[in-house]
Amino acid sequence: MVTEDIKYAIKKLKIEDIDGISKIGEGAWHSVYRIKRKMEADIVIRIKKEKAYGQLQEFNELDLKTEYESSKAYYELANQCSVNICPSFFSYFLDESIVFTVESFMGEGKRIQDLTNLEAYTLGKKLGYFFRDMHGKEPGIKGFGNLLWNGKQLEGSLKQDIAHIWQSDNNYYENVMYKLIGTDLELFNKDIIVEKILTIIKKRRGNQQSIALVNQDITPENIIFGCHNVALIDPFPKLDFNLKYAGYFVFCYKFLLMAYSNAPRYQKYHYKDHYEALSKMADGFIYGYIDVNEYLYKQIMDEYILWTLLETYENYEMLHKEELSYKTLLQMGDKDMINQRLEMCLEQLVKLCKTN
Ligand SMILES: Nc1ncnc2c1ncn2[C@@H]1O[C@H](COP(=O)(O)OP(=O)(O)OP(=O)(O)O)[C@@H](O)[C@H]1O
Ligand SMILES: [Mg+2]
Repeated sequence: MVTEDIKYAIKKLKIEDIDGISKIGEGAWHSVYRIKRKMEADIVIRIKKEKAYGQLQEFNELDLKTEYESSKAYYELANQCSVNICPSFFSYFLDESIVFTVESFMGEGKRIQDLTNLEAYTLGKKLGYFFRDMHGKEPGIKGFGNLLWNGKQLEGSLKQDIAHIWQSDNNYYENVMYKLIGTDLELFNKDIIVEKILTIIKKRRGNQQSIALVNQDITPENIIFGCHNVALIDPFPKLDFNLKYAGYFVFCYKFLLMAYSNAPRYQKYHYKDHYEALSKMADGFIYGYIDVNEYLYKQIMDEYILWTLLETYENYEMLHKEELSYKTLLQMGDKDMINQRLEMCLEQLVKLCKTN
């Protein structure tokens, strides 16, 4: 359906050679339209929804600039690493009455459930190559952590010395581990967890990772799986450590997506039924990222364990909150689901600590 919003956006953009408009997607934040053109490449217009997670979204120019300038910065760097992996064109329009982005159309893609294991592995490998290059690039943005638009440019919200940030990052995992084993949870394998985490952190402290522009939202909804190519859209970038986020991809595709399969926000994707393809994608990713460097493999697996530790504790904390927000209920599910996930996390954590 062609809405008034999309008509307005098209008029603002002065697009004339239109050959068709179709709605191609809807995430939590945007309604997405493909604009076919007669003479030029198709484009996509993503119109910001008025409500997200049941809440009316106020117009906050600084937040919107931060969001879209971050996507733009991510796409610019990505385009230096590889052609066609991210939109080569991206712009946005902010007004109290309407907010939208306009960007390259990156293809239709297959659903993850329609990929063969071999296709999943091959596309995962391509992502691995890309992320290795992306993580090796100087981000060109000062600071560390979440990005902020300061009126002139993007900057990382943390300004401390990087060696200090690295040690705080390591301390953080140790603290979470001690908090987890100090809980009332029946942990039969406490010693295994403690020993493994302490060993990882001891080694990790002496191997400071590089700062990269990383993507915190690499779920399949934001990846377009083509026959031979793969594209990344809708990134959520920040400045953080490179191998930590290589480990995050593996964590996501080997565990997290399955663990959130029954949460209302993700139910429709049936991730649990596609465990094999997702896991193959992670295998391909590792292969592409490490490029036969066995030591890198160990480091990525260690990061995977650390993400699992954080996830375990996050579910424990949520379970003990008096009340869950509407957003949490959608994203994580109710307390029964959180409890179930907590058990899955603990099982996975122990398994990983034993085998890696
Ligand atoms: N540039 C693009 N090219 C092709 N398809 C796109 C593009 N941008 C978005 N889409 C399609 O629209 C869907 C939703 O888009 P998008 O992820 O940008 O929405 P969102 O509301 O920002 O998402 P989220 O809920 O993850 O925040 C995507 O899964 C994809 O199928
Ligand atoms: Mg999205």
